[in-house]
Amino acid sequence: MSPQRNGGEKTLKKLFEDELADVYDAEKRLVKALPKMAKAATDDALRQAIQDHLKQTEQHVTKIESVFESIGKTARGKKCDAMTGLIEEGDSIVADFKGSPAINAAIISAAQKIEHYEIASYGCLSEWAGLMKNKAAHDLLEEILAEEKQADELLTECARNSMNEEALEEDEDMDEDEEDDDDMATDEEDEEVTSSSGRGSSRTRATTVRASGRGRQR
Ligand SMILES: [Fe+2]
Ligand SMILES: [Fe+2]
Repeated sequence: MSPQRNGGEKTLKKLFEDELADVYDAEKRLVKALPKMAKAATDDALRQAIQDHLKQTEQHVTKIESVFESIGKTARGKKCDAMTGLIEEGDSIVADFKGSPAINAAIISAAQKIEHYEIASYGCLSEWAGLMKNKAAHDLLEEILAEEKQADELLTECARNSMNEEALEEDEDMDEDEEDDDDMATDEEDEEVTSSSGRGSSRTRATTVRASGRGRQR
C-alpha cells in the first residue's frame, strides 16, 4: 500500500509518535524496576548484566528524547500498559521464588520477556523511521535495538552457564519420581503457574529450565 495513496504517511507519522511515547514511558519504568531485579539476583554475573543494562536503559531514555527532537516534537510519555504488566509479573515471580535456587532463572525469565517487548517495539520504530527517511531517528533506534538484542543474548548466556542447571538440580532433589512421570511434573508446573501470573509463559520457563539443564555436558 502506498503511503501517499491513502493519506497513510500522516497515519504512520502519528503511529510512530504514539509508539515512541509508549517506549519512552516503558524505558522510564525500567530505570526504576531494573535496580530491584539486580538486587534480587544472587548470581554475580546476572546482577552485573542487569546493572550494565540499566546504564544502557538510562541512555535509551535520552536517545528517545533525541528521536522526538528529530521529528520536531518534545518528548512525551504515554502509559505503557504492556511494560507495566511485564514489570508487575516480574515482581510477582521474583517474590514467589525469593530465597529459592530458581530465583536467578525466574529473574532471567522476567527480564527476557521485557527485552523481547523492547526488541519488537524498536524493530518496528526503526523500520518506520527508515520508511519516513528519517536517518537520524533510524540510526538512534538501531543503536537501541542492537543493545536490547545484546542484553537478551547475555541473559540467555547467564541462564545456560549455570542458573538453569542450578534450578533444575533442586527440582530433581525435591521430586525423585519426576523423570519417570513427565505428565505429573507438567501438572505441578501448571499449578505453580496459576498462582503467579501468565499460564503459558511460566510453563515455557519451566520447560526452558529443564531443556537447557539437560543439554549441558557434565
Ligand atoms: Fe531499553
Ligand atoms: Fe532493555
